[in-house]
Amino acid sequence: MHEALTGLAARVQTHLEQALVPFGDGQVAQAMQYAVSGGKRVRAFLVTESAKLHGVPEARAIWPASGIEAMHAYSLVHDDMPCMDDDALRRGQPTVHVKWDEATATLAGDALQSLAFELVLHPGGAETAQAQAALGLGLARAAGGQGMVLGQSLDIAAETAEIPLNLEQITHLQAGKTGALIEWSATTGAVMVGASTEALSTFAQALGLAFQIQDDIIDVIGDASEVGKAVGKDAAAGKATFVSLLGLDGAKHRASALVDQACDALSIYGNDADMLQQLARFVISRQK
Ligand code: IPE
Ligand code: IPE
Ligand code: MG
Ligand code: MG
Ligand code: MG
Repeated sequence: MHEALTGLAARVQTHLEQALVPFGDGQVAQAMQYAVSGGKRVRAFLVTESAKLHGVPEARAIWPASGIEAMHAYSLVHDDMPCMDDDALRRGQPTVHVKWDEATATLAGDALQSLAFELVLHPGGAETAQAQAALGLGLARAAGGQGMVLGQSLDIAAETAEIPLNLEQITHLQAGKTGALIEWSATTGAVMVGASTEALSTFAQALGLAFQIQDDIIDVIGDASEVGKAVGKDAAAGKATFVSLLGLDGAKHRASALVDQACDALSIYGNDADMLQQLARFVISRQK
């Protein structure tokens, strides 16, 4: 699985670089290029693996796979800004607003979101207009005010909440901020051919929560130079996380149970889902 993920990451990088060629070398274009570089490419891998499960070749799946990484990159650029998490390090490099300025970070994020839709709706991706529209509509919903943006707003609001969030509220927050894009990614293969998304949705909902729990655990136990971003900031900022609510051990148990659930949901695919199941295990063992 690790070699497959690294290989795909390189191909997604190339695809994004190609897509950005027409943008020229102005400051915002440079910042976009910078922001889409690096990263584990977990969301892209969910796209190409779910596509494989449905007989869709990577040459097609690489379009939505690159698109979701552009969307994710936008979310990180804005997440790091002083008005949100105020972080100076991302993927081992200075964040966009630190390297350039806040206006450039805002605009590069905005343009990456548009680029995401451009790539997801590209005719080289889903074959039918109907499937293209379904991908675009799904992404609009996942990224917007009932998905990722909603989760981010709840995350920021929780920092100053008088009463700490309960388990249900934290689950809702994280399902939005991290879960929505992960669910879109994992269901994309099915959507591309008009197949049922049920099993992949169940898989992704559990995986998305486990993914964010591990991110929260890394913030507590990680080392910034290894992780490539600041650590120890969630508690300092008063963030609502599974770790703040359940403690480190409780959060680890919860993540592990969620990965079991995620893997079970894929049993209908038999051995064909091995890669996705291995990815799920990787998500909670990763240290960055
Ligand atoms: C970090 O996502 C932000 C979260 C939603 C937790 P990743 O851990 O996938 O970041 P990259 O893309 O690998 O840098
Ligand atoms: C960010 O969550 C989620 C999104 C960008 C939507 P975090 O704030 O926990 O991500 P990191 O820890 O900065 O990567
Ligand atoms: Mg944040
Ligand atoms: Mg952050
Ligand atoms: Mg985090």
